[in-house]
Amino acid sequence: MWSGVGRGHSSTGLKQNVKRVRLMPTKRLVSSTPSIHRHQREERNRPRSAAFYYNQKTIDDAAAKPSVRLTPATILYAGKNSDGAHLLRSSQYLQRELPVRIAHRIAGFRTLPFVIGCNPTILSVHELYIQAFHILNEFPEIQSLEDSRKYNGILRELLDAHKDVVTHLASGFRECRRYDEDLIGQFLDRTLTSRLGIRMLAMHQLSLHDEQPNHVGIINISMKVKDVLTKWCDFVSHLSQYKYGRSATFKLSGHINAAFPYIQLPLDYILPELLKNAARATIEYHGDVLPEDMPPITITIANNDVDFIIRISDRGGGIPHGNVNTVMHYNFSTATDEENMDDHHGGFSGMVEAANSAQTAGPMYGFGFGLPTSRAYAEYLGGGLHLQSMQGIGTDVYLRLRHVDGKFDSFRI
Ligand SMILES: Nc1ncnc2c1ncn2[C@@H]1O[C@H](COP(=O)(O)OP(=O)(O)O)[C@@H](O)[C@H]1O
Ligand SMILES: [Mg+2]
Repeated sequence: MWSGVGRGHSSTGLKQNVKRVRLMPTKRLVSSTPSIHRHQREERNRPRSAAFYYNQKTIDDAAAKPSVRLTPATILYAGKNSDGAHLLRSSQYLQRELPVRIAHRIAGFRTLPFVIGCNPTILSVHELYIQAFHILNEFPEIQSLEDSRKYNGILRELLDAHKDVVTHLASGFRECRRYDEDLIGQFLDRTLTSRLGIRMLAMHQLSLHDEQPNHVGIINISMKVKDVLTKWCDFVSHLSQYKYGRSATFKLSGHINAAFPYIQLPLDYILPELLKNAARATIEYHGDVLPEDMPPITITIANNDVDFIIRISDRGGGIPHGNVNTVMHYNFSTATDEENMDDHHGGFSGMVEAANSAQTAGPMYGFGFGLPTSRAYAEYLGGGLHLQSMQGIGTDVYLRLRHVDGKFDSFRI
């Protein structure tokens, strides 16, 4: 478990070392929801020794267990019992599974180089995971539907408490930019995709209880890609108006009537990121032409038995040769630091939150997390994200995702 910690140190040496250090995170990121709040009050002001982060037997035991991942088709065809037995089964699965997954992530935080792991923002996220582990692990065994409902209450609170984790990681790692990029990339790929998986499972459980038409839990049994795209094009148009006083136009083509079972949640993260990038490039590259003369962003949908592909083509000048290999790195952005300050400390992020209750869409640009996170999500979902830059003209982004209807292999959540 200690392998990879503080490269250059022997693991036992580091272990002894960290025990003597007292770590006091400067920020506590826990939400204000009632029972988590109670937990937080009890914990508050207790000085954190490094042992709190690094030595916890229950976490070590859970981290040693394997995770049990399900295919969306298993979830889709799991069946529904009139007495609610399916709800009970689903909560019992989560009760076994979530502490294991969270313990794996905590083990990941522990393998970060010591200087990075001590960054106050990263340490606070680490602490949030430890708290979540204990809250879930100490929940009494689920035996009835009533227990399952109580467990759902805890899940809701945890989803809320963790909603800003990506933003916190983005700002924490920005402060550590000069450290080993590959190692940080692997840590973030794993942490963010695992977080996506946990959120999908938790939201699925909650949606099974509050049944929505046309859905089995989080799976929309006939998701219309065009509707999801239209929603995010509108969102990005509003954001561009706010940021630049003008917006690019979007044109849809290809299989615009395609509809099939899918999970919208990851698309609600990936699509706004790709569309914001295309809109920013278009608007900044064509700053001197009338808005109506700006070339539209063309989105093409292709659907087939195995997967579906969304291509977003902009005429925003392309990605310069020198940046082609770095745009996929976490925290790489061509935004200046002043632009970051404007966006994150002005009224802008408030506007984004208001416009997007799912709070997934973030500011127009600046963190350098849009592309790497989208690619990690797409690969986690059995697909991929590829860029083709035609320098001097524009960029084509191909998002490829596998179907989840069970006809072909898909992925495991
Ligand atoms: N469609 C595009 N056209 C030109 N440059 C792009 C495009 N998409 C991404 N980029 C470049 O890649 C960088 C990283 O993108 P991203 O990961 O979304 O971070 P951010 O948008 O926060 O800067 C951007 O800052 C921009 O320079
Ligand atoms: Mg971006």
